[in-house]
Amino acid sequence: MRFDTPATANPIDQLKIIGQPVDRIDGPPKTTGTAPYAYERHDAVPNPAYGFVVGSAIPKGRIASINLDDAKAAPGVLAIVTALNAGKLGKGPRNTAMLLGGPDIEHYHQAVAVVVAETFEQARAAAHLVQVRYVKADGQYDLAGAKNSAAKPDHGKPDTAVGDFAGAFAAAPVQHDETYTTPDHSHAMMEPHASMAAWDGNKLTLWTSNQMIDWGVGDLALTLGIPKENVRLISPYIGGGFGSKLFLRTDAVLAALGARASGRPVKLALTRPFIANNTTHRPATIQRIRIGATPDGRITAIGHETWSGDLPGGRPEDAIQQTRLLYAGANRMTATRLAVLDLPEGNAMRAPGEASGLMALEIAMDEMAEKLRIDPIAFRVMNDTQVDPEEPQRPFSQRHLTECFRIGAERFGWDNRLRQPGRVRDGNWLVGTGVAAAFRNSPVITSGARVRLDGRGTVTVETDMTDIGTGSYTIIAQTAAEMMGVPLDKVVVRLGDSSFPASAGSGGQWGANSSTAGVYAACVKLREAVARKLGLNAADAVFADGQVRSGDRSVPLVQAASDAELVAEDAIEFGNLATTHQISTFGAHFVEVGVDAATAEIRVRRMLAVCSGGRILNPKSARSQVIGAMTMGVGAALMEELAVDKRRGFFVNHDLAGYEVAVHADIPHQDVIFLDEADPMSSPMKAKGIGELGICGVAAAVANAIYNATGVRVRNYPVTLDKLLDRLPGVG
Ligand code: MOS
Repeated sequence: MRFDTPATANPIDQLKIIGQPVDRIDGPPKTTGTAPYAYERHDAVPNPAYGFVVGSAIPKGRIASINLDDAKAAPGVLAIVTALNAGKLGKGPRNTAMLLGGPDIEHYHQAVAVVVAETFEQARAAAHLVQVRYVKADGQYDLAGAKNSAAKPDHGKPDTAVGDFAGAFAAAPVQHDETYTTPDHSHAMMEPHASMAAWDGNKLTLWTSNQMIDWGVGDLALTLGIPKENVRLISPYIGGGFGSKLFLRTDAVLAALGARASGRPVKLALTRPFIANNTTHRPATIQRIRIGATPDGRITAIGHETWSGDLPGGRPEDAIQQTRLLYAGANRMTATRLAVLDLPEGNAMRAPGEASGLMALEIAMDEMAEKLRIDPIAFRVMNDTQVDPEEPQRPFSQRHLTECFRIGAERFGWDNRLRQPGRVRDGNWLVGTGVAAAFRNSPVITSGARVRLDGRGTVTVETDMTDIGTGSYTIIAQTAAEMMGVPLDKVVVRLGDSSFPASAGSGGQWGANSSTAGVYAACVKLREAVARKLGLNAADAVFADGQVRSGDRSVPLVQAASDAELVAEDAIEFGNLATTHQISTFGAHFVEVGVDAATAEIRVRRMLAVCSGGRILNPKSARSQVIGAMTMGVGAALMEELAVDKRRGFFVNHDLAGYEVAVHADIPHQDVIFLDEADPMSSPMKAKGIGELGICGVAAAVANAIYNATGVRVRNYPVTLDKLLDRLPGVG
């Protein structure tokens, strides 16, 4: 089904099941430990062996020699695979470094060997006996040091320019020009990267943990040099991804190679201390923001430049994305520069682009509002736009940013705020509030599904869509139930298997809207098949309460499958609505913090997010997405930072002891409000994404609240107490 005109009234609009806060249908299996993850598929194959990865001890250079003698002689060892005996390996378009390195080494902890043994302990012990001699080369590990050599990336849209930015900024009566930095981040999802591989002749089955099944199949086939048809990926349950599992990683490739070399199925999980340097991370940024405005607060010039680094051939962190779309202003520029760094591979993490970009932009907006002596909400509302500011002929499909601020201000009690910083005390706590806009694009991606109706009236949905803890199972079941007019418990959802139709997958907050729209398309076909079978008119048939009604006839749905199962398959394909319109999501984040006047300990006391993200398919799972994202935003504001060893070229704090994330005790009660809306441009579901919107802007709202509490402006994340301590009043 092609979606290229705005959605009209359709069965989803009944909102009998869609839009209801139903419980996650994968909740009971998750909470009772009966939802198996890839590493736990003991039932799937008999007698698997275990793989353990050896990572490079240098960040850059080459392997002079590898001695495997001791490792091969160790107890239980079945096979050892290195670049020397792996055969020719390719590389998928989404990988920057080779997933099995050697002789060239591109980054620290790049895999150089996998040891396969009867037990995990034997594989690990033997891995430590692999002797590698390296020739080290000089590398560049410091973004600030590499900044001047950064270049314009040669793909995507690195730079934009409208009007005369330089002239308008120079002439602006009120100017702001500051530089902000964000550090490298690690995804830190609960489930590590893990795979189990089994070969049957030349056919490979891989139980894995991957957000994007179709990408994974293609890239694994390319890496191994085998046809895509010979690869099957199975990934029904995923213990968090956050972008780290968008792409094929070492666990999948080395499990497959280890299984081929040993003639046994192989289980392989990356250990926690290995993940930070072996896999991808969110790259650090340096961002310069310039804003020029009239004294009454109208933006006349806005410029955003960003610098980040990656391995040769890698990609930038697109921190300028939101600045192209968020605020009006006739004269504008954005620029993206990418430096070569020899740190591990950078890539997508938790709203790549906007999450980093808003960390800077939304502090800059707060600073500018202060210079203008205008309330920071009023300043943002004054510069709202209903069209793409770079291409004014393109309207937003729907944009309710100002409503988010208005509703949020009322709920949060914004009007009681003292604009002058450092004035509110609660015992030893300096108390302040901050606000930031949330913005994230909402891409639409082709997505397919198959739907079956069987003789017991059960509707089964099959699609390779994944559920990374987000609620995909539930909203897909709700979609099928609404479309076919059956209760939720008559729907079975099967996900994450490449033998099912290819879906949008889970990434870029496109999953919920795109994948349910694909299920919608398949259900439209199934409804037609049902009507044909029952001799009813498909055009006016109403599917409700297990019945199909047309004219004065009403027939039980199950009757359509009384002699044989009915099967329908289709995909939603998006036409050009997303080109003629800008489809984005909006929100406002409100935060109250307390900062201890003596110790600079920072506590978040209250949080509120107001989100405008189209129709909310399930308010319970949507809220859960947003409060999780808000929590990640607090992590980005206050804690998360991969420490770079700039001499030895690796991330030092590569475990959950050294890499701090926000935990339950760090987070207060969180409030989330969804605007009641439906976006007819986004899909027949009229939904958009909300998961990543929830993180975008949070960190700046926290930083702005800290400023309001203390009068100390920190522009380098994370805002840790050492950056405040010597500038606080103390407790005298
Ligand atoms: Mo998201 S970082 O696109 O999984």
